[in-house]
Amino acid sequence: MNSLQPDLIIGGGDFVHGGFYDSGRVMDRRWKVADTFLKKLHARMEPIIGNHDFYEPVLQDGSPSPHDPRWRWKKYFGLHETYRSFSFRGYRFLMLDTVKVVGGANPYRGWIDAAQLSWLDRELRRIPPNQPIILCTHIPFRTSLRDSFGPFVIPSPGRVRVLNADSVLSRLKDRPLALVLQGHVHINERLQDNGVPFITGGAVCGKWWNGPNMGTWPGLGMIEIIPSGGMQSPSDDRISWNYRNLPSAPGMPRIPQVA
Ligand SMILES: [Fe+2]
Repeated sequence: MNSLQPDLIIGGGDFVHGGFYDSGRVMDRRWKVADTFLKKLHARMEPIIGNHDFYEPVLQDGSPSPHDPRWRWKKYFGLHETYRSFSFRGYRFLMLDTVKVVGGANPYRGWIDAAQLSWLDRELRRIPPNQPIILCTHIPFRTSLRDSFGPFVIPSPGRVRVLNADSVLSRLKDRPLALVLQGHVHINERLQDNGVPFITGGAVCGKWWNGPNMGTWPGLGMIEIIPSGGMQSPSDDRISWNYRNLPSAPGMPRIPQVA
């Protein structure tokens, strides 16, 4: 990643594995491992929270914990909240928290809660109407993944997409929404809806450190934004997407490199 010399890294969530199922003690060890990797990155990294980053979110009886399961992620990254916005090179990045703890057999679902929607309304009053927006979400807003399972068991809709994504997109319908960046499902997918690219960025671990996942090798997505130049709006910029496979670790299957 350092050799690619990115201007900015979006850390798409799930920095550790197992937050919904493993004890805090186990997760503490995994955060230490993640830390040894993350602190080697040279470029500025802006994180969003993934479901695996949650800390003991469900009690033994299967009900949601009364404690804040986001505290570990917030403490590690030094952030007060799991959603925020910032400006970078003329773009406004909206960083969302799309995981709702519900407990039970499917202990989370993709959902934007009411407090976050109120924050978004306040934020949009501050953001200039012509400033282009890049929205970053862990759980996809748009994906065709559920069409890809064939005869296999299909996960519940809330496990693979944000069920109320349209309550965010409707708020942005008159804004220059340049790009939606998504994670969670470990596939490299690019969809277009109303002219907006929805890009799902694969995963560094591929199929959980076991080769490719549904055809997507371990890797990362490179986004290049070519400014339109002149007096045009930044929303006229050209945005390219290129998925880069990562070199395999020792003992892992050989990964074909894409130029
Ligand atoms: Fe995830």
